[in-house]
Amino acid sequence: MLVNAKEMLDNAYENGYAIGHFNTNNLEWTKAILLAAEEKKTPVIIATSEGASKYMGGFKVVADLVKAMHDGLGITVPVAIHLDHGSYEGAKACIEAGFTSVMFDGSHFPLEENLEKTKEIVELAHSKGISVEAEVGGIGGTEDGVTSSGEVADVEECKQIAACGIDFLAAGIGNIHGVYPDDWEGLNFDVLKEISDAVKMPIVLHGGTGIPDEQIKKAISLGVSKINVNTECQLVFAEATRKYIEAGKDLEGKGFDPRKLLADGTQAIIDKVEEKIDMFGSANTAK
Ligand code: 13P
Repeated sequence: MLVNAKEMLDNAYENGYAIGHFNTNNLEWTKAILLAAEEKKTPVIIATSEGASKYMGGFKVVADLVKAMHDGLGITVPVAIHLDHGSYEGAKACIEAGFTSVMFDGSHFPLEENLEKTKEIVELAHSKGISVEAEVGGIGGTEDGVTSSGEVADVEECKQIAACGIDFLAAGIGNIHGVYPDDWEGLNFDVLKEISDAVKMPIVLHGGTGIPDEQIKKAISLGVSKINVNTECQLVFAEATRKYIEAGKDLEGKGFDPRKLLADGTQAIIDKVEEKIDMFGSANTAK
C-alpha cells in the first residue's frame, strides 16, 4: 500500500536526515526508484510533474502504475506518489486519481490568492489522508515551461503559508531547477535558518541536481527534510543509453530489445538514486 508523505517527512525532520523525492518519467524510472529504495531500506517519494503525467497518459495511469508496480515487485518500504508543482486543477485531479501526496504551487499567484487556494487544497487533501506541499517565492530555472527567476522566499510569507495547514514547505533559498550555472552563488543558509526557525516544519529543497554534498548536508541540518531530484537521473540515463548505442550493442543479437536497450540506463538511475539516498542519510530508516 502506498502512504502519504507526512509521517516519513516528520520522522526525517525529527531525526536529521532527508527523504529523496525522485521524479518519474515512465515505467523504467518508476521501477528503478522503487528497487533502489527497497535496496536501501528507505521511505521514498516518487513524483511526477503535470507534463510527465500527461506524457504517461494521465494522472490515473501514474498513480495506478506506481501502486501496481509497488505490489508487483513486493516493495516493503513506505512509498508516496506525489504531484510535483501542481496547478490548482492538477492538484484536485490528482487527489481524485489516487495520489497520496500533492504539491500545490501557487507561488506565481498574488499571495492572498496563493493562501486561499492552498487552504482549499489542504482541506480537500486532508479529508482523504493526502499530504500537501505548498510554495512561496519562485524556484529558479524552468519546470514544465514555467520559468522563475528564483527568488529567496520571504519569511513572513512562509509563516502565512505554513499556517494554511500544509505538511511541508517549498521555499526558495537560491536553489534552481536543472544544472546550476558556473556563477551560481550557492544556497542561502541565513534565509533557510530564518525560515526554518519561523515555520518549524519539514522544508523542501527543490533543484537537488548538482548541489554540492556539503551544502546538501548543511541544508538538512537546518530543517530540509525532502530533496527533489530530477535532472540528474535524466542525465545518467541518457549517458548510459548513449554509450550502449555508441558501442553498437543494439546491433548485436537482440540488443535492440527494449529490455536490453534500456537496461543500462535503468541501472544508472538505480545507482544514482542509491547514491543520493546514502547522501541524504535516509538509508535503513524504513520501519
Ligand atoms: P532538478 O531537476 O534540478 O533535480 O530539480 C528537481 C525538482 O526540484 C523537481 O521539483
